[in-house]
Amino acid sequence: MMKTLLLCVFLMLAMPLASAQNLEKGKDINATCAGCHGEFGQGGKKGEYPRIGGQRAAHIADQLKAFRARTRLNLPMFPYTQEREMSDQDVEDVSAYLASIELPTEWPEFKPDDDALTRLTAMEKVMIIPRAPGDIDNGGKIYKKECFACHGKDGMGRGKFPRLVGQYTSYLMKQISSFLKGERSHDEVEMRGILNELKAQDLQDILAYLTLIQTGQP
Ligand code: HEC
Ligand code: HEC
Repeated sequence: MMKTLLLCVFLMLAMPLASAQNLEKGKDINATCAGCHGEFGQGGKKGEYPRIGGQRAAHIADQLKAFRARTRLNLPMFPYTQEREMSDQDVEDVSAYLASIELPTEWPEFKPDDDALTRLTAMEKVMIIPRAPGDIDNGGKIYKKECFACHGKDGMGRGKFPRLVGQYTSYLMKQISSFLKGERSHDEVEMRGILNELKAQDLQDILAYLTLIQTGQP
């Protein structure tokens, strides 16, 4: 009886720990991703390596599984996503960890007693995508009509739909061209033709609009 009771108490205490450990595990796994995507998942080489920090967990997990199954081709990442390298649990852990990283769009304010390392780390996390050229009124109009429903009013995504705001413009454009060439599938059912119907200038205008709303003030 006493033993069962102790076991129950132990399990209750261990439960919140277990989920924290998954994030810890995710952080460990991220060490192998950081070489390309950066320590905070901020990406690099002007978007050759996309930002993954602060992306939606469900989208990160979907993409890792697609790379693993090779339904989406990604040669640089091939060795990292093979079955024996990345189990489903690893995918969940690293996705949850990356999704939890916040990369602010404003320079931090420091307290006088913040040390140099605290300041440096906070500054490294700031991520502002430069304004992309384009007609933001036209871009905003089309975004609200055609993209908004899935990618969110603020471009932050929802559910499994990825956030677009805060991603490198060059990376988004590269993904749009893969969708257009049929190398990657955008959204299986309803939206098959949506990008095909838009003019190249309209797409550029949408990307310009996304860089405008990244600070939350359209
Ligand atoms: C050798 C470099 C490299 C490493 C290491 C690497 N990646 Fe990538 N990753 C890439 C490149 C390049 C792309 C973009 C592919 C493209 O252009 O379609 C990418 C794309 C992604 C995407 C898709 C983003 C999106 O929204 O389309 C995710 C998610 C991702 N990586 C997660 C990870 C995780 C998690 C790890 C560690 C387990 C990792 N990557 C390790 C190079 C790398
Ligand atoms: C019906 C829902 C839906 C609508 C509407 C939609 N998208 Fe998407 N979009 C998705 C999904 C789902 C993905 C992830 C695809 C995957 O799993 O590879 C995505 C991915 C993307 C990506 C790649 C992001 C990344 O990080 O890899 C871009 C760029 C994009 N969409 C642009 C647009 C634009 C621009 C519009 C409006 C013209 C639009 N989408 C409308 C569902 C939608």
